[in-house]
Amino acid sequence: METVVSGIRPTGNLHLGNYFGAIKNFLRMQEENRCFFFIADYHSLTTHPTPEDLHGNVKQVLVEYLATGIDPEKSTLYIQSDLPETAELYLLLNMNAYMGELERVTTFKEKARKQPENINAGLLTYPTLMAADIIIHKASKVPVGKDQEQHLELTRTFARRFNRMYNTEFFPEPVAFNYGENLIKIPGLDGTGKMGKSEGEGNAIFLADDPKVIRKKVMRAVTDAGPTVPDSPKPEPIENLFSLMKVVSTADTIEYFDTQYKTCQIRYGDLKKQLAEDIIKFTEPVRERILELSANEAYLSKVARIGAEKAHESGAKTVNEVRDIIGFRKF
Ligand code: TYM
Repeated sequence: METVVSGIRPTGNLHLGNYFGAIKNFLRMQEENRCFFFIADYHSLTTHPTPEDLHGNVKQVLVEYLATGIDPEKSTLYIQSDLPETAELYLLLNMNAYMGELERVTTFKEKARKQPENINAGLLTYPTLMAADIIIHKASKVPVGKDQEQHLELTRTFARRFNRMYNTEFFPEPVAFNYGENLIKIPGLDGTGKMGKSEGEGNAIFLADDPKVIRKKVMRAVTDAGPTVPDSPKPEPIENLFSLMKVVSTADTIEYFDTQYKTCQIRYGDLKKQLAEDIIKFTEPVRERILELSANEAYLSKVARIGAEKAHESGAKTVNEVRDIIGFRKF
């Protein structure tokens, strides 16, 4: 039995990238491990410092976690700010996190470019907070998408450094994990890059989208004029549509359109129609559960309260031991 930790920021509804990059693995991991899944509300302040409805956003992610099948009896499902010991561990880790290594992080550089008016210290130390989230439960595995790989590398650096500096073997060095082995990146619908909540209108398909919206978004996905030479390689926007098919469609469907492409007979309209229906087949039951759960405030409060208790039991113990290792003593 291994300890597993992962989190999602409450900055928008969950999309197919979150599901296939992370949650799909959570569902399998919760069957056989000690799992902690949380909502990274502290982290969300690095990009959304004055959220209009922080509580509502957290609730939405809580509902969506549950709707996908995360079982609060098998896993510990909690809200990051309900475990304030995380912030203390973050502070302690920051004392041994160096400017140079934090400034080199790709996501920091990207965010700094995107929000030049708000390059805050939280953004720079985002990986230290993430390391605190993970090692506070002494996790060894972290199911995440490809975009989090570099953060995990830093988590290992911080864990190793702590052990070395305080001459202990307290923290394991956690690894980014995917049952499919390679970490994955689900592309968006705009032809380039990953699916993301802040990548622009229509780029992401959300688990809560209704079938009409899904059809519309998929039909508008970027394509090109189509291949004219048999067996030509697929340009990025087309490859992206095939990547989406790989997670929602059957092998037969993929093979059919692949052959159509290779023989220059492909009709993107047909491919998109099929892709939209396959996405809907996957999202519709989740969407129904989202609608049901949203109305059940009492259940959501109970889940959050029990999650906070279980997270505290694990996290407070670690932080007490860390204080002791560093040399803090009570008078
Ligand atoms: P976030 O909220 O951006 O995304 C949540 C999870 O979804 C994955 N993901 C994707 N995977 C594949 N393709 C995509 N297009 C795609 N978009 C998102 C992410 O890899 C992630 O696993 N820093 C984290 C939140 C976090 C965390 C942690 C994660 C805070 N502390 C501790 C693990 C452990 C983030 O911003 O994820």
